[in-house]
Amino acid sequence: MATSKLAAFVVLAAFLAGPAACEGASICFNGWLRTPRFCPRGSRLNRRQRGASPSGLGLGYGYYNNRRSPSYCPRAEGIVRGAVSEAVAANPGIGAGLIRLFFHDCFVRGCDASVLLTMTNSKNNDTEREGPPNKNSLRGFEVIDTAKRAIEAACPGRVSCADIVAFAARDASYFLSNRRINIRMPGGRYDGRESFANETDQLPGPFSNVTELQASFAAKGLTSDEMVTLSGAHTIGRARCMFFSSRFSEMDPTFAAKLRAQCNGNDNASVNQDDVTPDVLDKQYYRNVIDRKVLFTSDAVLNSTETMRQVRENANRAGAWERKFERAMENMGKIGVKTKADQGTEIRRVCSRVNN
Ligand code: HEM
Ligand SMILES: *[C@@H]1O[C@H](CO)[C@@H](O)[C@H](O)[C@H]1NC(C)=O
Ligand SMILES: *[C@@H]1O[C@H](CO)[C@@H](O)[C@H](O)[C@H]1NC(C)=O
Ligand SMILES: *[C@@H]1O[C@H](CO)[C@@H](O)[C@H](O)[C@H]1NC(C)=O
Ligand SMILES: *[C@@H]1O[C@H](CO)[C@@H](O)[C@H](O)[C@H]1NC(C)=O
Ligand SMILES: *[C@@H]1O[C@H](CO)[C@@H](O)[C@H](O)[C@H]1NC(C)=O
Repeated sequence: MATSKLAAFVVLAAFLAGPAACEGASICFNGWLRTPRFCPRGSRLNRRQRGASPSGLGLGYGYYNNRRSPSYCPRAEGIVRGAVSEAVAANPGIGAGLIRLFFHDCFVRGCDASVLLTMTNSKNNDTEREGPPNKNSLRGFEVIDTAKRAIEAACPGRVSCADIVAFAARDASYFLSNRRINIRMPGGRYDGRESFANETDQLPGPFSNVTELQASFAAKGLTSDEMVTLSGAHTIGRARCMFFSSRFSEMDPTFAAKLRAQCNGNDNASVNQDDVTPDVLDKQYYRNVIDRKVLFTSDAVLNSTETMRQVRENANRAGAWERKFERAMENMGKIGVKTKADQGTEIRRVCSRVNN
């Protein structure tokens, strides 16, 4: 009770302080904080700024299966699938973690496995893993490491960590959807050699409104439709109470009461995101948006007039969301892809650190 009163106060204080602190800037808090942050000059994002749809130039399906290519490693995708299958069977939450890992990789510096680094080329250890959206939250790293070890044993120096993350997200989607979601995921990404915690502020946050969500996806070349489609991933996995305990009063009362009991005043406690089918990657999320049984502001705001038509279609039309999710995940995997020709790229030997 004390916690939720405090939360309500922080939200109110943020609201009151908001306009003054944000004078003249377009996005003053990235949605991961309940309080606004002062935007230093020069860091202003133009909300209308829209990147081109990611081209994915250099990527190809079955990239590692070409016998004539120096990247030939025919077992690569099978090894990843095996590692993911085993991990998800033991704990479906790890599958949720792998899907999120892919999103957080691709949105920061492109899909280059920068999210996995603990030490970079410039000897920086304050990497993306330490950023607020990731610290004490991202999971599934050990599945990537297991797959990488087996792949290095089979064909050393050929398969990037960035591709392993992408294949793992594809395979987790396949198993968690009871094999209903089959993403065509090309390979050919190279790994980056830098990673900075402060760049994770490019990720949208749970307190983002619909305009901010659209802006953050547009900045990566993804449409509002793709934003709505990819948000459907919140039909699996878990979330901490600190990200939604301020909005119990906006939720379906029965749902809110259940969450209050589960959180029990502890903002570090966590709950299932989808109360109905917590471990199945299905379209239930959209029904939950309509029924006010979603956790974050960023989920609830999909009831806006602009996005509600899509929410209804996803909730009601069988197979519609699944097909859109397949395409949107593939497209997300093309964001800022690096290739051999780019400066500062490599095929990492160990996914958590750059080669010497
Ligand atoms: C639209 C903007 C998004 C916001 C604001 C957002 C925010 C969040 C937050 C706050 C959590 C809980 C983290 C914690 O409690 O530690 C979470 C969990 C999760 N998110 Fe998102 N997310 C967004 C989009 C996405 C996308 C595009 C995907 C994947 C396609 C995704 C997949 C997940 C998954 C699977 C989890 C559960 C992770 C686990 O259980 O380990 N999210 N998200
Ligand atoms: C979203 O938040 C921004 C501030 O970051 C504000 O300027 C804008 O009016 C808000 N939009 C909506 C639809 O509430
Ligand atoms: C980074 O290195 C510094 C100095 O060696 C150390 O104090 C700090 O704990 C390290 N941080 C992480 C996240 O490992
Ligand atoms: C992010 O951090 C790095 C080093 O940790 C620093 O060089 C860079 O200026 C920072 N960027 C911003 C926008 O603060
Ligand atoms: C969307 O849901 C929120 C609460 O979750 C509510 O306050 C708001 O009025 C709803 N908006 C529309 C357009 O229904
Ligand atoms: C919250 O829980 C995580 C593990 O789930 C732990 O690492 C962290 O230290 C906890 N934080 C607090 C403030 O209790």
